[in-house]
Amino acid sequence: MSGVVCVVGSLNVDLVTRVRRHPRPGETVVGDRTRTFPGGKGANQALAAARAGARTRLVGRVGADSNGTAYLAGLGDRGVDCSAVLVTPGEATGSAIVVVDEPGENSIIVSPGANGFVRPADVDAAAVRSADVLLLQLELPPAVVRHAAELAAQAGIKVVLNASPWSAAAAELVDLADVVIVNEHEAAALGPVRGSVCETLGSRGARWLGAERPAPVIEAVDTTGAGDAFAGTFAAHLAMAASPDRALRSAIAAGAAACGHAGAQGWALTR
Ligand code: RIB
Repeated sequence: MSGVVCVVGSLNVDLVTRVRRHPRPGETVVGDRTRTFPGGKGANQALAAARAGARTRLVGRVGADSNGTAYLAGLGDRGVDCSAVLVTPGEATGSAIVVVDEPGENSIIVSPGANGFVRPADVDAAAVRSADVLLLQLELPPAVVRHAAELAAQAGIKVVLNASPWSAAAAELVDLADVVIVNEHEAAALGPVRGSVCETLGSRGARWLGAERPAPVIEAVDTTGAGDAFAGTFAAHLAMAASPDRALRSAIAAGAAACGHAGAQGWALTR
């Protein structure tokens, strides 16, 4: 069965520099050459869902720049339907400054760019209503996330929300979701929710519906996008009506695999 996932979310161009260790506040460290990778939680998750076998449609915005054009072409080549991604004249495609240290841990600063211009009216209602699962994160304006979740709820479509990056707005949106995916830090901030909570545990695996499953032991190259690979794969398996155990195990495996390559998606926008 090929389920359908609709992702309403962000697209970023990630500027990634490797360092021996992260700088402390006020400190300068010298890094490796900077590379440009596709990123953004929405697009990362959409590609993961497509790779997991779901028919996947992405709703969002890029800028009218060469990065945006190259990004959409690359995602399309990799099986993500980007026909509902709009172009925002006069704005840059969203970007992120990503610093990765020797053990592969990252720190990220996001500059929203065109993502900040997504409006509720941009959300293609037909794309949401024809999906089995709507997958959301929190890099778009909260009103957009709310609107998309409400459209899905009216149509009886399952809503999965990756409550990341966590903010005060997240607390107001989590009750719109049937499943909330959080990491351990986000879980600590999360109060009671209407749906179920799927908690990722980093190198220890993840837990959902009372079951905890381990992650394979790996040598991490770059952990950027590991949580997104988890969320996209998880949503794809829900859309394909997999068992909870299969969904959880497959998502953990995809998250681990994503740590094995540089960049969030395993392909580069420039060399
Ligand atoms: O989750 C990783 C992603 O967060 C990066 O690709 C970056 O763009 C930010 O959105």
